[in-house]
Amino acid sequence: MMLRFLLLTLAAGLRLNNDPVRLWEEHPASTAEELQELLTSMIVEAGTVQVPHKAGGAEAQEVELRKVVADMRKPKDLLANMIHTIWQSSSTKRCHQQLEQVMGNLTLTCEGLQPKTDWILDYYASPLPNKTCTQSVSDIFASGDELVSILQVSRSAVASLDVSDETFRRYQALSFLRNWLVKLTRTHHHALIWAGFWDGDPQKRTTKGKLSNFAKSVEHATMHPDSFLGQVIEGSQNLDACYEDAQTIALAGNMWSIASMSFVLGMREKAQGTVIALVNKKITGERNLSQSVLSTHEIPTVGLAAWGLGFWSPKVIVVDLMGTCSQTSPALQKQLFARLPTWAKSMKRWSAEAFARRSRLQWQCIDCSGTCSLDDALAEHVEKLVKAKEAQDRKDQELRQ
Ligand SMILES: *[C@@H]1O[C@H](CO)[C@@H](O)[C@H](O)[C@H]1NC(C)=O
Ligand SMILES: *[C@@H]1O[C@H](CO)[C@@H](O)[C@H](O)[C@H]1NC(C)=O
Ligand SMILES: *[C@@H]1O[C@H](CO)[C@@H](O)[C@H](O)[C@H]1NC(C)=O
Repeated sequence: MMLRFLLLTLAAGLRLNNDPVRLWEEHPASTAEELQELLTSMIVEAGTVQVPHKAGGAEAQEVELRKVVADMRKPKDLLANMIHTIWQSSSTKRCHQQLEQVMGNLTLTCEGLQPKTDWILDYYASPLPNKTCTQSVSDIFASGDELVSILQVSRSAVASLDVSDETFRRYQALSFLRNWLVKLTRTHHHALIWAGFWDGDPQKRTTKGKLSNFAKSVEHATMHPDSFLGQVIEGSQNLDACYEDAQTIALAGNMWSIASMSFVLGMREKAQGTVIALVNKKITGERNLSQSVLSTHEIPTVGLAAWGLGFWSPKVIVVDLMGTCSQTSPALQKQLFARLPTWAKSMKRWSAEAFARRSRLQWQCIDCSGTCSLDDALAEHVEKLVKAKEAQDRKDQELRQ
């Protein structure tokens, strides 16, 4: 017994001595072809299932949320304030303060940028009234989710008046919004996304400080809070008081949809070759991965931007700080494709296979758990992967010219 223990310890020690740096485990990459095949079969499968139509429900909810937003932004007199104070729980009150602060800031910032709507809308027979920044901010919170799906409406469909009035109205809203909001998501460096880092980590392995240092050493920036929009949201504690009530959850969810869309569109605009995702979340239990902004909004938007808008082929590199790549990767890949079957269906001239070939996105996951940390050695390794992808992209570019 004792001997066996000794041998095991020795063996472990030897292994560490032989390879003192590489404490992470890199899983084989999913190739572009593998992911294309997976996506094709998802689209084919979804084609046989009737998607429940929710348009009516979405519109009713939008109307209701618009009222909440309008109430929130109305200047309040003393009496209204007193009634609010009596009526609302302290978390609702905090949530409203957070929302008001974000809305106020975004409205002023929008006005400073003097955004414009796509000019093709001017040629519509009955033009819609010009958007204002106040309305545009209300659009974010009341209908963010719906607006993201309008990305798939092509400009030429709008130009040829081949869309419903409802879609036209949303197209105008999205066009105005993109004109100012994407500017607020610029980061100086390439952007990375993350979930589950917090300063309370007793081991100090996965704090925001560690995250930010790692981002710097791979010459990336975190989208939130490094971009202006990220700072505005973080300035209101990421709306943390708004997750207790269905209505304010919907408002915050809409905001995250739009914010993630803008972040990822920013990456696509820059033709960023790699998307680094740092994940420190369990798959099951409370506060699990499936609840995170990364999983519900950011990764699905990467899928939209790559295949839906098309012709963007980043390599996604997931670093899993819990060492659960074997579960995290499939769960996140499912999210990557989540919005695509509906999108593919609306592009009638594209077969499932042809649609899947619109991107050559690749995927790799690196487990980094136990004694592995976001240190210089790992940063160096990830940077090597980023540089290799850049070199590959340059070569592909040359071949095409
Ligand atoms: C909307 O704004 C444009 C300038 O961007 C202006 O030319 C046009 O007259 C405005 N339309 C309405 C209805 O106010
Ligand atoms: C909006 O928030 C940003 C980031 O926190 C801050 O720098 C800026 O001063 C704020 N602007 C207004 C008008 O409140
Ligand atoms: C993830 O968390 C949510 C909310 O806490 C919960 O409803 C869901 O069942 C969890 N998922 C798993 C797989 O445990």
